[in-house]
Amino acid sequence: MKPGYLFLPIFLSFHLLLSRCKADAVEFAACNLSQYRCGDNTYNIMFPFRLPGSMPDYCGSEGFDLRCVANKTLMINISNESYQVKSIDYATNVLTVVDPDLVSGNQPCPQRLTNTTLDFSLFTYAAFDLNLTFFSNCSSIFTFPWLIPTNCTEFGSNYYYYSVNETPLIVELLQSCSSVGVFAINQTAASDFLDGGRTNTRDALQGGFGANWTLGTEWCGSCQSSGGTCGRVPGDSSKPNCFCPNGTVSSSNECKQQDHGTKTVTSFCLTLTFSIVTLHLVQLNFIF
Ligand SMILES: *[C@@H]1O[C@H](CO)[C@@H](O)[C@H](O)[C@H]1NC(C)=O
Ligand SMILES: *[C@@H]1O[C@H](CO)[C@@H](O)[C@H](O)[C@H]1NC(C)=O
Ligand SMILES: *[C@@H]1O[C@H](CO)[C@@H](O)[C@H](O)[C@H]1NC(C)=O
Ligand SMILES: *[C@@H]1O[C@H](CO)[C@@H](O)[C@H](O)[C@H]1NC(C)=O
Ligand SMILES: *[C@@H]1O[C@H](CO)[C@@H](O)[C@H](O)[C@H]1NC(C)=O
Ligand SMILES: *[C@@H]1O[C@H](CO)[C@@H](O)[C@H](O)[C@H]1NC(C)=O
Ligand SMILES: *[C@@H]1O[C@H](CO)[C@@H](O)[C@H](O)[C@H]1NC(C)=O
Ligand SMILES: *[C@@H]1O[C@H](CO)[C@@H](O)[C@H](O)[C@H]1NC(C)=O
Ligand SMILES: *[C@@H]1O[C@H](CO)[C@@H](O)[C@H](O)[C@H]1NC(C)=O
Ligand SMILES: *[C@@H]1O[C@H](CO)[C@@H](O)[C@H](O)[C@H]1NC(C)=O
Ligand SMILES: *[C@@H]1O[C@H](CO)[C@@H](O)[C@H](O)[C@H]1NC(C)=O
Repeated sequence: MKPGYLFLPIFLSFHLLLSRCKADAVEFAACNLSQYRCGDNTYNIMFPFRLPGSMPDYCGSEGFDLRCVANKTLMINISNESYQVKSIDYATNVLTVVDPDLVSGNQPCPQRLTNTTLDFSLFTYAAFDLNLTFFSNCSSIFTFPWLIPTNCTEFGSNYYYYSVNETPLIVELLQSCSSVGVFAINQTAASDFLDGGRTNTRDALQGGFGANWTLGTEWCGSCQSSGGTCGRVPGDSSKPNCFCPNGTVSSSNECKQQDHGTKTVTSFCLTLTFSIVTLHLVQLNFIF
């Protein structure tokens, strides 16, 4: 037997041990995609969001899949509508999104009439959201003080108005105006409309609106603040998993603060690997 053959089992056991040791905290690391770059922006992608192809399914939940389109724009589908992700705030659980169809081009008037619709099983409107309602092609003139006249002619040549929240969609207007769109905008953008009488919807919509998610906000908060990464039990989106830095899954959704498990496991693995290699070398020495 040539000595070369003996290196194979040595190499294999060394390799096997190292890979086993390395595999320990994969979930913990895989489910916290920090500094993910898409276009000009970087994002932190964590539970309940996930990035198919770059993160395992168990890191997030259905309905929270993100996609970097053309290496340029991070997108999410909500209620079968594609939105551009502006930011994700994990401290307040608010996802800020923009409808790209509404802001494309440089038009001050809406180019498409839609009603912003959230999937209320996953999101609610953030507290800072307001509705901007666009009444168009109206058959008569209205002079309510809360109606802002405009002269957008995109949907016919009759009268056009904007109104910002608090406004009941009164029957008169709904009956008189043939096209109505309700867009969610943020409070700052809304006050521009009210104060300055600015009527550029593109600018207002560009600011985006907040979608407040609630999935796992309680348990995930305690998992993260104890140093863990959130995920879920594969195949069961309702079951939470808290991945700890030492590679274990915490049943209480909390990792111990003083946990030095990673170091312990690593040094244990190195010691074991070293011993086995030494053992093999000793054997070799005996043989030759
Ligand atoms: C995406 O764009 C960044 C720069 O914006 C570039 O560094 C990176 O290589 C691009 N990735 C792909 C897959 O094209
Ligand atoms: C959103 O839906 C469209 C089709 O409606 C699909 O092509 C796209 O992949 C979806 N995007 C995500 C992020 O799921
Ligand atoms: C989702 O949108 C796509 C087009 O974007 C459409 O083909 C599909 O029928 C829609 N699905 C639902 C359930 O509305
Ligand atoms: C939007 O909502 C308004 C008021 O509920 C309704 O009259 C209008 O038809 C809706 N528009 C679209 C495009 O669904
Ligand atoms: C998000 O929703 C929760 C409860 O549903 C609420 O307490 C919180 O204030 C909301 N956050 C924002 C920014 O709207
Ligand atoms: C905006 O209008 C939608 C219905 O079109 C409603 O569900 C939502 O609560 C409204 N948002 C605010 C902040 O009033
Ligand atoms: C309507 O358009 C004219 C010029 O085309 C502009 O001077 C005026 O400010 C516009 N009015 C409103 C309410 O936007
Ligand atoms: C505007 O309203 C008139 C009736 O008042 C209608 O005939 C016309 O089709 C409407 N235009 C659009 C673009 O909806
Ligand atoms: C609100 O929208 C305006 C644009 O109209 C934008 O400048 C601002 O950053 C937005 N604010 C938030 C909190 O998203
Ligand atoms: C995610 O990873 C980044 C960089 O490693 C770290 O700064 C951040 O605290 C981690 N977040 C959580 C919730 O573990
Ligand atoms: C890993 O950390 C968890 C939570 O802090 C602890 O319960 C567990 O005993 C640790 N396991 C190892 C192997 O260190």
